[in-house]
Amino acid sequence: MKISNVDVKTLKEKYGTPLYIYDVNHIKRNMDGYLNYFKSNEFKTEVLFASKALNIKELIRICMEKKISLDCVSVGEIYTAIKTGFNPSKIYFHGNNKTIEDLKFALNNNVGVIVCDNLMEVECLNDLASSLNKNVKIMLRMNVGVDAHTHKFIVTAHIDSKFGVLYDSIDYKKILDIIINSKNIEFIGFHSHIGSQIFDLNAFKARAEKMVSYCKGFDKPLELNLGGGYGVHYTDADSPIPFDIVSKTLINTVEETLKAQNVKIKKLLIEPGRSIVAEAGYTLYTIGYIKKTPNKEYYFIDGGMTDNIRPALYQAKYDADIVGKENEKKDHIVTVAGKCCESGDLIIENYPLPEAKMGDLLITYTTGAYGYSMSSNYNKALTPAIVFVEDGKDKLVVRRQTLDELIEREI
Ligand code: LLP
Repeated sequence: MKISNVDVKTLKEKYGTPLYIYDVNHIKRNMDGYLNYFKSNEFKTEVLFASKALNIKELIRICMEKKISLDCVSVGEIYTAIKTGFNPSKIYFHGNNKTIEDLKFALNNNVGVIVCDNLMEVECLNDLASSLNKNVKIMLRMNVGVDAHTHKFIVTAHIDSKFGVLYDSIDYKKILDIIINSKNIEFIGFHSHIGSQIFDLNAFKARAEKMVSYCKGFDKPLELNLGGGYGVHYTDADSPIPFDIVSKTLINTVEETLKAQNVKIKKLLIEPGRSIVAEAGYTLYTIGYIKKTPNKEYYFIDGGMTDNIRPALYQAKYDADIVGKENEKKDHIVTVAGKCCESGDLIIENYPLPEAKMGDLLITYTTGAYGYSMSSNYNKALTPAIVFVEDGKDKLVVRRQTLDELIEREI
């Protein structure tokens, strides 16, 4: 099996397993998909990468090359970006509970836009900016109350969500009051994100219409950030909407709504995370023991929930192959289990694969988003390496954690 013309078995020999592998051509194609189609003649557009999906230097370098801005949700993500040489004015800082220290860090590092999530944050930021004598651009994250049909843990826009402000609520009015009277805050527009792994274009349309209506009554054209959440293909149960259709639908809906409501905006932004990196990522494991129980057959792998928590957390489904046996008869119904001391550490359950033997390589697909970024050291597992492959060449971009690194902070 080859990925971008690099033999997977060679990668195992060079870097060991578990190993995250990314096809750089695929990442760039995905980015170009948005960059080419998310365009309008009516307003400016900007594509952000939601870096929580994979916040590492090499990917940030690709964002720089492609002129893609960044959504960061922590000082850690911002720090990584700045250390990579990313222009902080192209960073949008999100989060429902940014601490005063977080906000101070953002102001002192000239982060471009702070996406404020609630009334108290706007109050604190206003005080802080004034005491530091800094000017700051803010967007306001709105809870648009649109129901997107996805897993309940990744829906973010129901009425009692921890994220965002309800339009016309008491908090909203107080925020407007602060903004109008602030010498340090420049309010530039609204943000919303209605959930993740969404396939329902109607949810996006309903949301776009609400967001446009929020822009009425301001004396300057605002910016609208439509968030991320565009679904990807994990298994054949998922039918993602192609980039061009997602992008054009969003643009057309906003253009039409602007016309219908007689509103102008300055810029439209999106911030996809998963749909840029998920399908470009693979995880390679070595199969260890194989065990049969009365009702099951297990293939044990040398990683598991520590490198991919998504099956345990969201009942996420993945496809897999045994490397080199892709075309063999898949006549074993197996459960692929990790090596953690945890019964729920199952990557794939009751899945057809060919007969495997100890030492075979198992590859899981579409693991490029929220795999590495949600990895853990549970059971003191070492975080795997990441290798980027492109046109027959491989490049180690994150090396495997070492045992000494695992204990270096312990006193
Ligand atoms: N913008 C905001 C404000 C967000 O909260 C998120 C994701 C995104 C953009 C990017 O969404 P995407 O395009 O990646 O769907 N850990 C979960 C996903 C959590 C997403 C949180 N917010 C998972 O593994 O499925």
